[in-house]
Amino acid sequence: MPRIEIVPSILSADVGRLAEQVKEAEAAGADRIQVDVMDGHFVPNLTFGPGVVEAVRRATKLPIEAHLMVDRPELFLEAFAKSGATLIEVQVEATSSLYRTVQTIKELGAKAGVAINPATPVEDLREILPYIDLVNVMTVEPGFGGQKFIGRSPEKIRRVRALSSEVEIEVDGGIDARTAPLVVAAGATVLVAGNSVYGYKGGVAAGIKAIREALD
Ligand code: DX5
Repeated sequence: MPRIEIVPSILSADVGRLAEQVKEAEAAGADRIQVDVMDGHFVPNLTFGPGVVEAVRRATKLPIEAHLMVDRPELFLEAFAKSGATLIEVQVEATSSLYRTVQTIKELGAKAGVAINPATPVEDLREILPYIDLVNVMTVEPGFGGQKFIGRSPEKIRRVRALSSEVEIEVDGGIDARTAPLVVAAGATVLVAGNSVYGYKGGVAAGIKAIREALD
């Protein structure tokens, strides 16, 4: 059984104390940190640029995922690779040159991930799967933290796992102590958690612990 990785996303963090919040997550056993990059076009929210990845890079030794929820992500790959992102995820819906985009990410020295939105068919991944390290199955419509987990997501995760036994399957949106066991049972091994960590009433460490304990 592969280790299940917990990836706090900073969307719900207190950005006025970002370095501290990232260090809290690392100390509490987080496996990676995700920076949710949004451009106000692909999703109706505007968030972080490469400078924030640089700040996270200075605050932690953990791998950093830059999840580009942006139109034409190919315009930003070099900037995010140079900022210290270990893995760069692009949305399958956001570029007309996904193969070239994935190749460029890898030429820049980062791992390559592809995220698919709830209404995007798994079949859209088939041809790019052999070239990528990770698939992010969005379990909410991207744009905001704290949204409700889409209940049919585990079935979609199973269909991605049926396409590839190799690729890492990440899930993102509404992941908490209740939904984490559901997505892991379906084949997910990388859990992005924003509100259930940074919005957790008992604090960051307790939030991560609650998810871990739900998986034991
Ligand atoms: C897309 C964002 C969120 C965030 C996690 O909306 O990328 O999915 O990472 O959000 P929650 O708070 O649902 O864990």
